[in-house]
This record gives sequence, C-alpha cells and structure tokens, in this order.
Amino acid sequence: MLAGERMTLRPPTGADAAPLLGILTEPEVSRWWVGYTPERVREEILDSGNALVMEIDGACAGAIFLYPNEDPEYLHVVIHLFLGARWYGHRHGAEALAIVIAHLASLGHHRFTLDPNMNNAPAIRSYERLGFRPVGVLREYQLRPDGSHEDGLLMDLILSDFPDGVDWRRG
Ligand SMILES: CC(C)(COP(=O)(O)OP(=O)(O)OC[C@H]1O[C@@H](n2cnc3c(N)ncnc32)[C@H](O)[C@@H]1OP(=O)(O)O)[C@@H](O)C(=O)NCCC(=O)NCCS
Repeated sequence: MLAGERMTLRPPTGADAAPLLGILTEPEVSRWWVGYTPERVREEILDSGNALVMEIDGACAGAIFLYPNEDPEYLHVVIHLFLGARWYGHRHGAEALAIVIAHLASLGHHRFTLDPNMNNAPAIRSYERLGFRPVGVLREYQLRPDGSHEDGLLMDLILSDFPDGVDWRRG
C-alpha cells in the first residue's frame, strides 16, 4: 500500500470489480480503454499482480498498472492508468504517477514510460505537465473497434531530470 497526500494506492480486492467496471464503461474512459468485461477486469486488474487501485476519499477512483522490465541493461517501467471521469482535472492522475515513481525509484528504477493514444490530448498534456517528454510516434499502435488503427505517443521520464523528485503539482 502506498499513501499520497490525497489518495492511497493499494492492491485490488473483489469489492473493486463493480466500481472498476463502472469506470471502464464510462464513455470518457472507454474511448481509450476499450471493451472491458467482468472477465477482463478480473484477469487484467484483480488477478494480474500488475495493478493498484487509486482510492480517493474511500472510493475506488481508478487503477494504475506497472510493468517493470527488470533487465539491468534496459531497466525501465511501463505505466498505464485510468481514472473515473468525476475525478478528472484535479491532477489525481499525476499524483498517482508521482507516488509510483517515488516508490519505484526507491527500488532502483530510473526510467518510466507511458504510451497514450496520440489523439488523447488531455492525457498527453497532463503527463507533459508532470515531466514526461514525447519520444516519438508509435505508428498504428492501437486497434480500434472498427478495425482501423490509431497512433500512440511514446513518452518517458528520467529521474535524473528531477533531482528534487517528481511533484504532481508541477506545471
Ligand atoms: C489521463 C488522466 C489519467 C489524466 O488525469 P487527470 O488527473 O484528470 O489529469 P489533469 O488533472 O492533469 O487534467 C488533464 C486534462 O484533462 C482535462 N479534463 C478535466 N475534466 C475533463 C473531462 N471531464 N473530460 C476530459 N478532459 C477533462 C483537464 O482540463 C486537463 O486538460 P487541460 O490541459 O486543458 O487543463 C485521466 O484524465 C484519465 O484517466 N482519463 C481517461 C483514461 C485515459 O485517458 N487514460 C490514459 C491512457 S494513457
């Protein structure tokens, strides 16, 4: 469990299944996180060992996923996240990122990546404000329900750029 100023990140439980599915079927979220079912929530969030629930004021507000590459030569962590629409616009996503980056830094990690859809301008702005930088376009990265593909944007954050730590209030 990781505690921040306004949220706690904790392992998911069975009680999170319904609120997580509710968030993943909100139009604002399902535009980017497509096709979630109770089975996928169980497999990818509750049972995967990669996800932490964002708990805000006692409510399950979203989830953040950590995929570390532990190869010492290419050490980095791929991060994914989503937040329910009622919590948008208050830097809660940035706070969740800052909490996990501080934790992973204490375990020796120094490089973190995100890969938002190129059309997800609010997410890209939010990550840039925190300190992530665009690396390049991931062409035809996400398969859409209509069979087309959309580009992604690879973004990274390097800890040595932030000697005082990563602050979610930044920007
Ligand atoms: C991306 C996300 C994590 C950002 O978290 P956040 O805490 O809301 O980020 P911020 O507070 O920095 O706000 C980001 C932008 O969203 C905008 N925003 C606020 N409310 C919004 C709403 N209801 N719908 C869309 N955008 C909204 C903010 O105005 C801000 O844009 P700005 O640059 O014009 O100020 C969150 O919006 C989210 O989970 N979105 C849905 C799923 C998703 O896109 N996941 C990311 C996949 S990589």
